[in-house]
Amino acid sequence: MQDLFSPTADEGKPPWERIAIGRQACVLRGFALRWENDLLRQVQELVQRAPFRHLRTPGGRQMQVAMTNCGDFGWYSDQRGYRYTATDPLSSQPWPPMPPAFAALAAQAAEAADLPPFAPNACLINRYSVGTRLTLHQDEGDARHPIVSVSLGLPAIFLWGGDQRADATQKLPLQHGDVVVWGGVDRMRYHGVMPVKEGASPVAHPLLDGQRINLTFRHAS
Ligand code: SIN
Repeated sequence: MQDLFSPTADEGKPPWERIAIGRQACVLRGFALRWENDLLRQVQELVQRAPFRHLRTPGGRQMQVAMTNCGDFGWYSDQRGYRYTATDPLSSQPWPPMPPAFAALAAQAAEAADLPPFAPNACLINRYSVGTRLTLHQDEGDARHPIVSVSLGLPAIFLWGGDQRADATQKLPLQHGDVVVWGGVDRMRYHGVMPVKEGASPVAHPLLDGQRINLTFRHAS
């Protein structure tokens, strides 16, 4: 069956735009819009099973961003350190499985970024309320696989740095439906999110009411 959202011969170009931000990194503007309804419905279901929570850094500070996970592994942080776990420490149950639409989006985004085939086994789901930021960091996980990061809801300024924390950062505005992909030589670049500003939600949905949701796909081993 033809993908309803793939470009047709008439249109001639895809309904999204690719902007290079590194040798193996790009922003895919509007790439996730075709999955919007599925993503929002699935996130709502997932958080019934594995609710958002504010994790603590190994040093004991509470993180501003609320997080949960789906997939074979979930990213976690507490006094024992940063790590991936197969079960949700809150419930002692496995993290909810990754919905097929999530895996399809991540795989197609990696392909659109000209990166090798990507089959994520971990999806970190971040929730930002107004004023929340994420400080510069590198993403853990198997660095042979890329990161695919999906933005929904309120816009944000993504800080895109270099391989060292002290490297200069670019400020990249991200909108609802944008996807950032980075792999290969760019896989360990520092990145973060500036405090999310108040604004009108791009679509009416309880998850996006005054909030930004980010899905970060990784391969953990
Ligand atoms: C992350 O680096 O884990 C999230 C990035 C984002 O929210 O855009």
